[in-house]
Amino acid sequence: MKLMIINGPNLNLLGKRENDIYGDTSFDDFFVELQFKYRDVELSQFQSNIEGEIIDKIQEVGYTFDGIILNAAAYTHTSVAIGDAVKAVECPVVEVHISNTFSREDFRHASFIATHARGVIVGFGLQSYELAIQSFLKE
Ligand code: DQA
Repeated sequence: MKLMIINGPNLNLLGKRENDIYGDTSFDDFFVELQFKYRDVELSQFQSNIEGEIIDKIQEVGYTFDGIILNAAAYTHTSVAIGDAVKAVECPVVEVHISNTFSREDFRHASFIATHARGVIVGFGLQSYELAIQSFLKE
C-alpha cells in the first residue's frame, strides 16, 4: 500500500503557527510517528506553498500510488486547478483538515476538492491524517 500525504501552504509551520488551532507538533515529528505506527504502509509526504507544485505532485503520484491524503490548506477554498487535478487522477484522494473548518470563518466552509474526493476528514487535529490512512486500510 503506497500512500502520499500532500500538504499545502503554511503547513510547514505546524507546531509554531496558531498553536491554539493547529497544535504544538511539527509535521515532521508527527510523520515519524505515523511511519512507525503504520510500518506496513509505504508512506511518503510532500509539502509546498506553491499551487502548481501541489498539482504536479498530484499528477506525478496519481497513477501509481494507492491513494493521496491531501490537506491543500487555504488552496482548498480557492483552487479550481487543484480540484481539477484531484478529479483527473486515477487514485482516490481523501481530503483532510486539522481544524474543524466548518466552525471557522464562512470562506473555510467551501472546498473545490471535496466533490472530487473519496471522502473528507475534518477537525480531528493531526489524527485526521491517521483516520485517512485507516480509511485506505479498511478497503
Ligand atoms: C486547514 C484549514 C484551512 O482553512 C487553512 O487555510 C489551513 C489549514 C486545516 O488543516 O485545518 O491552512 O487546511
